[in-house]
Amino acid sequence: MTGQDHPTGAVRIDTSRPHPARMYDWYLGGKDNYPVDEEMGRQMLALDPRVPVMARVNRAFMHRATRWLAERGVRQFLDIGTGIPTEPNLHQIAQGIATDARVVYCDNDPIVLAHAAALLRSTPDGLTEYLQADVRDPAAIVEGARKILDFDRPIALSLIALLHFISDEDGAHELVGRLLSELPSGSYLMMTHATADFTPEESAAAIAKLRAAGITLALRSREEFGRFFRDLELVEPGVAVVPEWHPELGEPVPGQEDGVIPGYGAVARKA
Ligand SMILES: C[S@@+](CC[C@H](N)C(=O)[O-])C[C@H]1O[C@@H](n2cnc3c(N)ncnc32)[C@H](O)[C@@H]1O
Repeated sequence: MTGQDHPTGAVRIDTSRPHPARMYDWYLGGKDNYPVDEEMGRQMLALDPRVPVMARVNRAFMHRATRWLAERGVRQFLDIGTGIPTEPNLHQIAQGIATDARVVYCDNDPIVLAHAAALLRSTPDGLTEYLQADVRDPAAIVEGARKILDFDRPIALSLIALLHFISDEDGAHELVGRLLSELPSGSYLMMTHATADFTPEESAAAIAKLRAAGITLALRSREEFGRFFRDLELVEPGVAVVPEWHPELGEPVPGQEDGVIPGYGAVARKA
């Protein structure tokens, strides 16, 4: 789907249970969420009141990592688990540095499709595309992305706050390996992931509450997160707690200093 063929038909939104994209939108102060999302969001806040700070810190990592990559010449991005558009979106950061940057967005939640028009406002000499697809179907994503991206030139694969929704049973590590195998040398993986390393009790309670609502939360340790990068060259500073990855490239998020942010981030290059 491009800006020319955005669907005009109705998109089916399930408002009977919470969805990660809409809860995240609520944490970020957006308006594209429903009472059921706010209710579950409030339950997460009761466990850890810093969840909205974590969401903003995560978003700020995406800004910094995209900037870092664009400044090093990366002109193509494949962003899976995009979320409901929240300015600045990834293409706005990348095209702010290189107007010809191309970005393919992908999410499996129909609410993101419903708002995808905001992701398709590319610069005239760049290009953006939105794919409605599940990361558990990498073949479909690669097939769709090939229509926009040149797979003979470096691509940054962006998996920001996505893989903690994919269990080991669903093959999280294998899926990332499969996607990376399609990318040429000089490509990058940029990624964040929530962890229970710092707040084990609150995390266990969150997992249970979300599971009861039908949402899988697969928190991973630093070592398990690091395994996603095992065949790649981590760029400095390697695996970091999210706000500590190149903080000089952006402004600190208010409140991020009030305690540890329970998530890891990293960027790595495919040799
Ligand atoms: C926490 S949001 C992160 C949004 C954005 N990447 C960011 O960091 O600002 C996670 C997103 O992943 C999407 N998602 C969850 N499971 C997915 C799957 N199996 N395939 C594709 N997207 C998925 C959700 O719909 C949601 O939009």
